[in-house]
Amino acid sequence: MASIAGTLDVVQIRKDFPILSRKVHQKPLVYLDNAATSQKPQVVIDALTNYYQNYNANIHRGIHSLADEATSAYESTRRAIQTWINAEKPEEIIFTRGTTEGINLIAYSFSQINLAKGDEILISGLEHHSNIVPWQMACERHGAHLKVIPINTKGELDLSGLEELISERTKMVALIYVSNALGTINPVKDITEKAHKVGAKVLLDAAQAAPHFDLDVRDLDCDFLVFSGHKILGPTGIGILYGKEAELNHLPPYQGGGEMIAEVSFEHTTYNVLPYKFEAGTPNIADTIALKAAIEYMQTIGFDAIAQHENELLSYATRQLTAIDGLRLIGTAEKKASVASFVVEGVHHQDLGILLDQDGIAIRTGHHCAQPIMSQLGLKGTCRASFAFYNTLEEIEFFIHSLRKAISMLR
Ligand code: ALA
Repeated sequence: MASIAGTLDVVQIRKDFPILSRKVHQKPLVYLDNAATSQKPQVVIDALTNYYQNYNANIHRGIHSLADEATSAYESTRRAIQTWINAEKPEEIIFTRGTTEGINLIAYSFSQINLAKGDEILISGLEHHSNIVPWQMACERHGAHLKVIPINTKGELDLSGLEELISERTKMVALIYVSNALGTINPVKDITEKAHKVGAKVLLDAAQAAPHFDLDVRDLDCDFLVFSGHKILGPTGIGILYGKEAELNHLPPYQGGGEMIAEVSFEHTTYNVLPYKFEAGTPNIADTIALKAAIEYMQTIGFDAIAQHENELLSYATRQLTAIDGLRLIGTAEKKASVASFVVEGVHHQDLGILLDQDGIAIRTGHHCAQPIMSQLGLKGTCRASFAFYNTLEEIEFFIHSLRKAISMLR
């Protein structure tokens, strides 16, 4: 049996995740759908129940003790994220519902003041629907054009025509950092530099990067960056928009309501300062608080150890998958996160997913909310196994064994 000589004590780590010891169809759960959402450690679950059991209150509004405790826990998550992603100030961290809301916020507010007829937005051929549709809507509203960086057959960005694609007309370059469907890690820093040279702003969709490696917004020099809590061990319904202070200050609010205002009259309203200008209404207090527990857990494990373990899982899975007759890996970029997408000749991806589930194995099948990638590669969908630091080589061995069995049943 293969083994990983890494520094992670995965047996111990798995005990922190209650769900990993459950069974599905009487088989031990093998959870390989981490790109869709991660599982949650007990500390995150405890942070949620602790808030509701002990200090549930609305924030920023009350003078009583519970409100004070809730406010300070909520704001301490903002500071934890600021430190983690190396933002200059906590005010640059806006809480959202998730990556999708963060992108919609920027696509709406940025376009309101920066996008005019004939302007261009540049995205890539690897985008998730959430980084395509909001920009299409913005382009339609303002008479602008959506341009796309093409991809090659390995699922990497083809940057040979980038000089022509980025011009003075480009107002925003909105890019996925790591492809959810293929795992490709994009050279976002280089592209950011090129975008800035023509005065374009850059938004990075880091939903699939945040689970795998440290983020440093000052080093990346992006203007905006978004990710979701639920992919980094946190709850669903909470996400982050980072923006450089000057950029965020400049943008009009996205939603109106309580907390985002300074003064309201029937004639005129003035807006609150950052970050509250973009946090209208009672926010998702419990999930924000629990997100801090998730980030601290990941930091305790360590992003270097996470990356090393996941890379070993990916290499092992890649070797085993390529040895299967008729199986074709989709997405073979030089730089990849722990995502293995594949198709099998003569077998429908969905049928494979259903049979694997019978063995307790969770993978995702279909277009992975990235239909344009599939059409560029001439596919309807793929099977996607995505690995986290709590997965083991034994799980991958079982997955490969079950996959071989499923293929032989379906052929
Ligand atoms: N974007 C998520 C995925 O890739 C849901 O599965």
